[in-house]
Amino acid sequence: MPETRILMFDSGVGGISVFKDIKARLPWVSVTYAFDNEAYPYGELSQDELVDRVEKYVQHFVETQNISLVVIACNTASTVVLPRLRDKFSIPIVGVVPAIKPASQRANLGVGLIATPATVTREYTHDLIKDFAKDKDVKMVGTTELVDMAEQKLRGVSIDLTLLAQVLQPLKGNIDVAVLGCTHFPLLRNEIHQVLGADVMLVDSGEAISRRVEFLLKEILATNTSDELSYDVYCSAEPYSRSALQSSFTELGFSEIRIHPLKGA
Ligand code: DGL
Repeated sequence: MPETRILMFDSGVGGISVFKDIKARLPWVSVTYAFDNEAYPYGELSQDELVDRVEKYVQHFVETQNISLVVIACNTASTVVLPRLRDKFSIPIVGVVPAIKPASQRANLGVGLIATPATVTREYTHDLIKDFAKDKDVKMVGTTELVDMAEQKLRGVSIDLTLLAQVLQPLKGNIDVAVLGCTHFPLLRNEIHQVLGADVMLVDSGEAISRRVEFLLKEILATNTSDELSYDVYCSAEPYSRSALQSSFTELGFSEIRIHPLKGA
C-alpha cells in the first residue's frame, strides 16, 4: 500500500514550526517539505510573482509525487494564493493565516500582530481584524528582520536580542497577547518572550493546522497504510550555510536537502 504523503510549502524554514505540530499529531504521515529560497523573502515579493511561483511549485510536486494534501505553511502566501490553488487542484489545500480570532478572545489589554511586511498590508488580514477583533486595539509590526533571524537560528546563529527588542518596541507594554503571524516566528518563541515579557501570550496557528490536516485526511480516507515513512526536503536554490541547515533538518528526521530549481518562474 502506498504511504500517505503531504506537501508542505514555505519560502524558507518557517514551515518547520508547522511541521513540528503535524509530526506530533500525525506521526504516520510522510512529508515533502519544499521551500522557495530563490525568491525569499516572500514578505517583500510582489503578489503576482508570489502567486505564480507557489502555483508552479505546488503543481510540480502534485504531478510528480503521490501527494494527498497540501499545506501552504506560509501566512504571506496563504493570504493571497489559496483561491487559485483550490480552483486548480482537487486535493485538499490547507493554508495558514494569522490567528487573530483566538488571540482577540484572550486579550484584555491589546493584541499585537507580528507578521511580514506583506501580511500586515493584506486585505485578508484587515478583514480578519474587522471580523474578529474590532473591539480590540490591534497593533501591527511588519518585519523581515525576524524572518531572517529565524533562518539564522536554524543555521545555529544566536539571535541579536537588542535588534529583536528594537523591532518589537511598538508592542512593549501595549499588549497582552501577540499573534505570531508568520510561520518563521514560533521558531523564535523563547527570544520573543524574553523581549516582550513572559506574561505576554504568544499565539500561532500550528496546532490548529495540524488538527485541520488530521480532519481532512480522515475525510479522504487517508490512513496509516505503510510502514515506510520519509521526510524529504527540497529548495529552489543552493541554501546558504547548507551544512548547518542540514543539521537542523536531520535532527527533525529529514533526508538530504535537494535542490529543485523552479522552471519557468
Ligand atoms: N514564513 C512566511 C510566512 O509565514 C514567509 C516569510 C517570508 O519569506 O517573508 O509569512
